[in-house]
Amino acid sequence: MSNTIAIVDSRNGKQADLPIVSGALGDPAIDIAKLNKELGLFTYDPGFVSTCSTKSAITFIDGDQGVLLYRGYPIDQLAQHSSFLEVAYLLIHGDLPGPAQKTEFEHHVTHHTMIHEGLKLFMNGFHYNAHPMAMMVGIAGSLAAFYHDSLDPEDPQHRMITAIRLIAKMPTLAAACYKHSVGQPYVYPKNNLDYCSRFLDMMFGVPAEPYEVNPIAAKALDLLFILHADHEQNASTSTVRLVGSTGANPIACIAAGIAALWGPAHGGANEAVLKMLNEIGDKSNVARAVERAKDKNDNFRLMGFGHRVYKNFDPRAKIIREMCHKVLNELGIHDPLLDVAMALEEVALKDDYFVERKLYPNVDFYSGIIYKALKIPVEMFTVMFAIARTAGWIAHWLEQNAAGDVKIGRPRQIYVGPKSRDYVPLAQR
Ligand code: SDX
Repeated sequence: MSNTIAIVDSRNGKQADLPIVSGALGDPAIDIAKLNKELGLFTYDPGFVSTCSTKSAITFIDGDQGVLLYRGYPIDQLAQHSSFLEVAYLLIHGDLPGPAQKTEFEHHVTHHTMIHEGLKLFMNGFHYNAHPMAMMVGIAGSLAAFYHDSLDPEDPQHRMITAIRLIAKMPTLAAACYKHSVGQPYVYPKNNLDYCSRFLDMMFGVPAEPYEVNPIAAKALDLLFILHADHEQNASTSTVRLVGSTGANPIACIAAGIAALWGPAHGGANEAVLKMLNEIGDKSNVARAVERAKDKNDNFRLMGFGHRVYKNFDPRAKIIREMCHKVLNELGIHDPLLDVAMALEEVALKDDYFVERKLYPNVDFYSGIIYKALKIPVEMFTVMFAIARTAGWIAHWLEQNAAGDVKIGRPRQIYVGPKSRDYVPLAQR
């Protein structure tokens, strides 16, 4: 059986035999690189619904089965047994670290958590009520103005030190954005704490009294970071890869990824979900919300529902939903919004509109309820997503640059504008 597919242009009978490319798992793809040359045709796929942009060994998603693998390891096993930094190592290096490798990686991350003091001047310039994501896009990108000694994408040592710096400094930047927004002094990172405890200490510690991190909160956060660490070629990761394909430095690529994540159709959905649940307010309003989500004349959508790839339950949503009950019980919290979310899920999953379109809760549907229980403000929810996704973004950037043969990403278009026409002098217009 040949490993090609014949594309025949029925307008003129011309045929192109194009190679079929298969990976280790998932659907094969048609390599269309020669299509335009052989048939004078482009492919057209707004939103890249059926288009592969690259080959990658990092994450595999089976949308129909609701499967998510990081370097082959199922997300539920990593959620149960691993830690965020161990997962970050796995995504970057391709294998789980041995004891010495794990200790070394954690040591490097721990000892790169501080930021240049000059960045505090930058932070202080932001308007007092700036959205934390607006600050994060700016402040993350400005790291390139302080750490320009190791930005060469061609240099393997530069690539790795910048990867470590970004994973290490994102929580410090995020906590600083929060402190700026509440007018409290920044809290320096403490090396004696683990990654998530250190972040919570920087977020909620104050000079006036000692702050004791709740280990339940730190563990819940670590699990949320594992679940948000990577997700194949999603919009923000594709952005990081596209910006990286121009040879831009890794910090600029991550800043672009943060900007892309901010949108409510992507990482901004977790903030939008909590606002939606608050707007619904009570289980008695759930049926009305579901009806509004189905009404094409109403731009209301069930935020946290639906996914481009998952046409089954997002495995991360399942884990987070179970976590909600566990964490809220352990923290002794009853949040009526969880009841609203559960009721919304129950009604939607029985409704033909959602069933026909295979719309299920995604990673963002329940995560905000846990962030709220950890006293993370809703405006910081997407910042939390960015901290975790930095591991995936940098893993994809490293994979693309390590390959060496990076082709600049430059899609074509179908032009629908005016045909060529002559200039009209002003007096004749
Ligand atoms: C993330 O790509 C990733 O991997 C992303 C992510 C990651 O980890 O990086 O998983 C993180 O971004 C999760 C998604 C978070 N976004 C939301 O929760 C926002 C709400 N959901 C959507 O807007 C939507 O479902 C998307 C953007 C997630 C997916 O959109 P698609 O694949 O382009 O699907 P579509 O908009 O074409 O919808 C298909 C149909 C449409 O109806 P019809 O035109 O067929 O009648 O389903 C409807 C849509 O109107 N639909 C919804 C809906 N989502 C889709 N209707 C109501 N509520 C919704 N949430």
